[in-house]
Amino acid sequence: MTLAAQIIEQANALGPWHHRVRLRDGIFTQSETVQDESGAVVSVYDPDRSFEQGIRPVYPDGLGGRSFLDCACNAGGHSFAARDHGAGEIHGFDIREHWIRQARFIAETREGDMSNMRFDVASFDDLAASDGTYDITWFSGIFHHLPDPVAALRLVADRTRETLFLNTACVRFDPTMPEKPELVFRPQGTRQLLSGVSGVSWLPSGPQVLRRILNWMGFVDIRTYYWVQDEPEKLTGPPEGYTGRIALAAARSEGALGRMVDLKTPTSGIGPARPKAPAPKPEPAEETRPLRWEDDLSVHALDTAPFERVPPVAEWADDAFEMIRGGKAPSEIAQLPLIEMARRDTAPLPVRTDREGYSQDNHEHYWLSGLRDYHLTSQVVARHGGTVDRIMEIGCASGRVLRHFAFQSEATEIWGSDINHRHIRFLNTHMPAHVRAVAVPALPHYPVEDNHFDLVTAYSVFTHVDTFETAFLAELRRMLRPGGIAYLTVSDESHRDMLQQGTTETSRRLAERIAGTFPDGAELLKGPLTEEKRYLRHRQTGPYRGIVFTPQEQITTVWSRFFQIEEIIPSGHSDQTVVVARKPRS
Ligand SMILES: C[S@@+](CC[C@H](N)C(=O)[O-])C[C@H]1O[C@@H](n2cnc3c(N)ncnc32)[C@H](O)[C@@H]1O
Repeated sequence: MTLAAQIIEQANALGPWHHRVRLRDGIFTQSETVQDESGAVVSVYDPDRSFEQGIRPVYPDGLGGRSFLDCACNAGGHSFAARDHGAGEIHGFDIREHWIRQARFIAETREGDMSNMRFDVASFDDLAASDGTYDITWFSGIFHHLPDPVAALRLVADRTRETLFLNTACVRFDPTMPEKPELVFRPQGTRQLLSGVSGVSWLPSGPQVLRRILNWMGFVDIRTYYWVQDEPEKLTGPPEGYTGRIALAAARSEGALGRMVDLKTPTSGIGPARPKAPAPKPEPAEETRPLRWEDDLSVHALDTAPFERVPPVAEWADDAFEMIRGGKAPSEIAQLPLIEMARRDTAPLPVRTDREGYSQDNHEHYWLSGLRDYHLTSQVVARHGGTVDRIMEIGCASGRVLRHFAFQSEATEIWGSDINHRHIRFLNTHMPAHVRAVAVPALPHYPVEDNHFDLVTAYSVFTHVDTFETAFLAELRRMLRPGGIAYLTVSDESHRDMLQQGTTETSRRLAERIAGTFPDGAELLKGPLTEEKRYLRHRQTGPYRGIVFTPQEQITTVWSRFFQIEEIIPSGHSDQTVVVARKPRS
């Protein structure tokens, strides 16, 4: 294995990554895992860009050996940028070990002088117990995650000899009105890798409140050098959401900030009462193409890692079925002879990391959830007079539902397809011979006969298809036999309403994830689902890069051109809606 391949593999194992840091020419920190343990997608951020924006105007000739403290440093991206700009001693700390492991890996791996750099798993309380001082302190992306941000900022200010850089989320501000300086309470989750750890946090109202605080801490030259907020017309709710971002530099001596700008209004989303300034859209984070062409079109293309396996349910002792024995099986299947059905299923189960996070580590829950979806599908198809002899599942992953068609039904030909090669390898290794699993590129082309299948299913897949939707519909139609049925799940208005209202535990969790992951997420959940507000993307490259909503209107005006829409079942697939569609008979 080449050194480059080794580095890529090690970086991959340390994912998910938030900071995109250059390790060597052409090699950046990234991994195939993009979600954290809570299921939240970890957004990708370019630390070099925001570092330069703050540092360059104040230190145009570089940092000249100045010391640098990086608070809540994540993978240390700003610290490495500081070293590239000539910083001397560098100290970064973060409360989460995951990030510090990444920072230490970069320090060991990156080309260049990484000496005199230290990364610690530590909190602001630990900082309070130390007495070191630094020329420059960096307080970025942490103010809005702290239960007592002023106290933490004070600690850091007291250790700042020259300049403090503060970058935080803030509330939306109407620049036609004077700022009412305040900190606005905002609850937040604690389980996401990018969240705080206390659940309590505060958003500043704008620059005034931060200036007053920084001034009180002894800074005399304070400038707002970055300030953006959402466009007002996109906002429907109260302004205390997470809708703006602001960065200030604060110096100990007058004039020390040189030619740095001092913004008086946000540079985007400035409010209807003002003449509309040419609002530069916040630039999307710079992204490069995947290193391997296959990664443009699929996932885990070259993966050959062995599988960890959970023993087949057929081999479990009776008392291992805790949910079934405790009467906790999903109500839709509680009446079925579940233990008997389990005895038929002789294939190993995939472990959590090989099953799209379904059911966390609860293997019985995973098996039952697939069985429920299989059972509901069979019932609905029967209700519509359908048969299931030949079936194709699109986006089948490692067979959560498909395995039940294989072990519980009379179907003779069961095809599964997915863009994730590893899932397909799992199926072709472990499923019975009448299962045929195909790794497909994200483009909707399926290498199968025309007019072949009685049933085509896609569970939670159209919720991720953000391009070529119509080609998917046409391709499903091509492979279905006349009169055959498509059973497709979508997030429509009814699912959106559940997310909005937090009707179920899963909708509450997903809504939190959406709001925390996608800049437009909270807003999308509030307004009507329109064509331009259907997509939430967390990256621009590769497939499977976000969440897609399908408004009812899209089904009635577009999907209906390809299929007869037989039935729409809100909450037919947990919180998602099921669309039952038929290929016309003639
Ligand atoms: C949320 S998972 C659902 C997995 C499975 N259908 C289930 O219900 O257990 C979404 C699946 O869709 C697959 N996928 C995403 N985009 C796809 C595309 N464009 N074509 C085919 N599969 C896709 C993913 O690899 C993943 O396995």
